[in-house]
Amino acid sequence: MQTLAKILKYSDESIKIVVDSLLSGNVVALPTETVYGLGGIINSDIALRKIFEVKSRPFIDPLIVHVLNNSSFFQLVDIDSILREKIEKLIDAFCPGPLTFVLNKQKHVSDLITAGKKTVAIRIPQHRAFRHVLREICCPIAAPSANPFGYLSPTCAEHVFNSLGNKIEYILDGGHCEFGVESTILDCSGKKMRILRPGAVSADEISQCLNEEILPYKSITTTDPSAPGMLKQHYSPQTKLRLFETHAPDSTNNLKCAYIFLSRKDAENNGTSSQFGESNHVFWLSESGDFLEIAQNLFSLLHILDLQNYDMIYCQTPENIGIGTAIRDRLTRAAAKF
Ligand code: TXA
Ligand code: MG
Repeated sequence: MQTLAKILKYSDESIKIVVDSLLSGNVVALPTETVYGLGGIINSDIALRKIFEVKSRPFIDPLIVHVLNNSSFFQLVDIDSILREKIEKLIDAFCPGPLTFVLNKQKHVSDLITAGKKTVAIRIPQHRAFRHVLREICCPIAAPSANPFGYLSPTCAEHVFNSLGNKIEYILDGGHCEFGVESTILDCSGKKMRILRPGAVSADEISQCLNEEILPYKSITTTDPSAPGMLKQHYSPQTKLRLFETHAPDSTNNLKCAYIFLSRKDAENNGTSSQFGESNHVFWLSESGDFLEIAQNLFSLLHILDLQNYDMIYCQTPENIGIGTAIRDRLTRAAAKF
């Protein structure tokens, strides 16, 4: 019988256990400021393969490499001095933090990480527990989100335990993730930089920092499996999810529905719980509509509601600004399956 994962609270002792486990080629769930990651050291092909196996992730979907600092970062990439200067500027402004760079890779970066691409995705995480692991282990860590492929990303240790608890040995518990949505991915390998996935760092902020145009995120509608992270359907709960802008649709007879609003005020403007019918429930993602708070709570609430046998979840979508773009993107993809 498979034993269940141990959830280890972040401490000096737990870091030792995690580091030993990683060094022997195992994968461990680690907290980051965005979502929990499923980490493996990049110089072990065994560890890299385990990441895909545990997640049931196709090998054609490349991984993000997490490094401690600039010197480890630049050892992985093959770029000219002009681009390097720009990347250094962005790192100074936004890292450690929720920004991932896609850049031409050095030959030694494994094809398992990059799915055979010429580019590698790298970020410098901010969470102190993840940084502690990186400092001790002296090796970059590849880490996709610690969820089964296609399911909601985990924003606390329990989420990881619920979906991967029977497949891994350790989950390092660093509390609830600060941002709650995955990092912004910036493709810097073409003529113009381009947002591949919106996150907490916006295209405008990057553009202002470099004083140059950044091609904005184009919502993806692809069903092309060669770009799996960009699939239209992703991050889905098991319960049917439908989206609305400001006014919640009427509840359908005989269905048990959850209504999620962005703020308490939005919920109140749409009427009281009783108006939605007795078997329906109303929730909100923030008190005041603050987008950072909404992002932080989004996956968490979806995880909770997904365990509660609703026939349908209706969720309000935020405006397309700042981290609102990332929230809209995740919701749109989560709802695409239904
Ligand atoms: O916040 C995050 O980025 C989290 C935490 C754990 O760091 N990680 C994360 O990893 O979201 P993952 O694997 O769930 O999503 C990574 C995305 C995928 O959509 C993948 O296709 C894309 O990054 N990606 C990785 N390498 C790439 C590359 N060379 N070119 C284009 N896209 C790439
Ligand atoms: Mg993911």
